[in-house]
Amino acid sequence: MHPSLLLVLLFFPSLQGFRWDRQWLVVNQRGRAYTQRVEPKLALVEVNLPAEAFSEGWQPTKTSYLEIKAPGMDLLKISLCKPPKVSDGVSVWEWSGSALDEGDEASKWFTNYLGKPSRMVRFNAASETRPVDPVYAQGYSIMFSDMFPFMLASQGSLDELNKLLKEPVPMNRFRPKYFFAPFSGSYHISCILVDGCEPFSEDLWTEIKISQFSFQGVRLCSRCKVPTINQDTAIAGPEPNETLMKYRSDKVLRPDKKQQGKIYFGQNMVCKESLTEGKAKLVKVGDPIFVLQKVSTAAEAVA
Ligand SMILES: *[C@@H]1O[C@H](CO)[C@@H](O)[C@H](O)[C@H]1NC(C)=O
Repeated sequence: MHPSLLLVLLFFPSLQGFRWDRQWLVVNQRGRAYTQRVEPKLALVEVNLPAEAFSEGWQPTKTSYLEIKAPGMDLLKISLCKPPKVSDGVSVWEWSGSALDEGDEASKWFTNYLGKPSRMVRFNAASETRPVDPVYAQGYSIMFSDMFPFMLASQGSLDELNKLLKEPVPMNRFRPKYFFAPFSGSYHISCILVDGCEPFSEDLWTEIKISQFSFQGVRLCSRCKVPTINQDTAIAGPEPNETLMKYRSDKVLRPDKKQQGKIYFGQNMVCKESLTEGKAKLVKVGDPIFVLQKVSTAAEAVA
């Protein structure tokens, strides 16, 4: 039996990621990205897109909205048609450029919610590119995701981690729960969740095939503070960091390599453009995953 996609129904992989994924960002007064690392309240922001937004070839009309909800806040509706204004000086990590500004209503909403001057911006794919670190993958780019367009983790890995934890954590700590994740700030990275494989076998995968797409594993995913934030309460705790430090650190997995105190969960991926013409550009729940190439230990994987 092949491992298969478990939870996420994902659409239109392209070189930059799934459609609607990590296109938006909430930024501060100076245009700098907010993330859950410093604004854990972003964990409680919920988003909704019209169901049609996930059909192939769909384009937004004047009455298509991204709906945004958070505790204590009125519903915020953002038109999916492109906002007209360009905002310069937006930055996230090492990248800076211009983005499309979602306007004053969105700005007021996030300013009220976070209690700090904020704006909401959309990636301007027409004028901007944000390349992936070429040390790991050359010729790929992303919108507002953290570092890579895709990440993959297995249910087996989570189950194994939960055996070691006093209180199990749900997979949403690692961010794959949602069909799409428009905000870079509120969702970590685009995660493909798979089932039917041994725990942590995804560490070893360097090339897999899902539907007609080939994905390459480019770097083990080292984890920041976000998995320690309870996504239902926005409160951070010591776990699963402490347990991951014991079982999933570079010290444990890669004892011969230079130590940086990192912990790993999941594999970062890029997607090669599909070579098959005429097929729907979809990957969906239940699609089998074919492992085409792998290394034999996590120490051999790029990290
Ligand atoms: C994880 O815990 C270690 C100490 O055990 C600490 O040094 C590190 O900063 C923590 N990492 C995160 C992301 O919280």
